[in-house]
Amino acid sequence: MLSQKLLDELNLQIKYELESAHYYVAMQAYFDGIDLPGFAHFFKMQAAEERFHADKFYEYVFEADGKVELTSLDLPGKDFDSPLDVFEKALAHEQFVTKRIYHLMDIAREEKNYATQSMLNWFVDEQLEEENSMRENIAILERVKDNPNGLYMLDRQLAARTFTPEAE
Ligand SMILES: [Fe+2]
Repeated sequence: MLSQKLLDELNLQIKYELESAHYYVAMQAYFDGIDLPGFAHFFKMQAAEERFHADKFYEYVFEADGKVELTSLDLPGKDFDSPLDVFEKALAHEQFVTKRIYHLMDIAREEKNYATQSMLNWFVDEQLEEENSMRENIAILERVKDNPNGLYMLDRQLAARTFTPEAE
């Protein structure tokens, strides 16, 4: 059973995960607009991953005998200055999501809701990976600056990203 407080927070998290997907589609569109298809592909995969996160919360709410309540989405932003700017905003966004996951964990712990804690553990690990991936690309882009060859190389590399949801 989920307390009303935890249920509301889990529903809010579904909104945040879907908003993340929405934000990453905006980033994908920025890169398609400046002809960097590999970067665009990277954010397309990132958006797919966020929809998968939303789905994980969705499944969990019903599994725990709660009810999913959807609300309207906001777009966190859609104007970007450079590839580096995009990744810095993506990192800031992931850091926000990490805080959200920790907040959910705090409530689950307070309420001694062990099932929710167990579900959230997966997200704690996932957030570490997400932040790290953004940080790695920021480090490369800081070195590349506006060098077209460097950008081209990174574009080729990012084009290879795949996303396969884990088997349940
Ligand atoms: Fe996520």
